[in-house]
Amino acid sequence: MTLLQVMAADNAADVRVRTTDDAVIGTELAGHGITFGRWPVVDNATAVPSDELLAHYRDQVAELNESGRYKHIDIARIHPDDADPEWPKTAEGARAKFLNEHRHAEDEVRYFAAGRGCFYLHLGHEVLAVVCEGGDLLSVPAGTLHWFDMGSRPDFIAIRFFEEEDGWVGDFSGDRISEGFPTLDELLTSS
Ligand SMILES: [Fe+2]
Repeated sequence: MTLLQVMAADNAADVRVRTTDDAVIGTELAGHGITFGRWPVVDNATAVPSDELLAHYRDQVAELNESGRYKHIDIARIHPDDADPEWPKTAEGARAKFLNEHRHAEDEVRYFAAGRGCFYLHLGHEVLAVVCEGGDLLSVPAGTLHWFDMGSRPDFIAIRFFEEEDGWVGDFSGDRISEGFPTLDELLTSS
């Protein structure tokens, strides 16, 4: 279930909003200029090859990219593979990549076709944790301080939209703020 938890930036225990109501989440995020939307999910998307998923979402992608600003559209996916002895290390490495606060020169636009991941948006005096799940579209505006947690058992498929080929490159702030906030796993188990 999609979840929004708003916390004070200087005290993660100060939870100001916690909701799984899509309409409230959309309104709250729109108030900060952040696009949040939902597209219908494909049944058992995890079993569907990436090119077929992109083909399935052709119309939604075309509408989102009507202006042609996104030159590179691809799919990032990671699924647990317990038969692979390297999987824990692969998962840990993937997770660590964007776990620290950073920003990008362009909007970070992601559609979750399956699975989940949490974006933490550091907006002034607040941090908005948005747990995205299959069906969720989120756009983090360029320059917004944020971090991303895919959890201890990464499992998601995300369509990514880039203006430039290296649009995913992060400019890290060096602030360790993310260490003081609940992880994706913790957000899901707290109430
Ligand atoms: Fe990012």
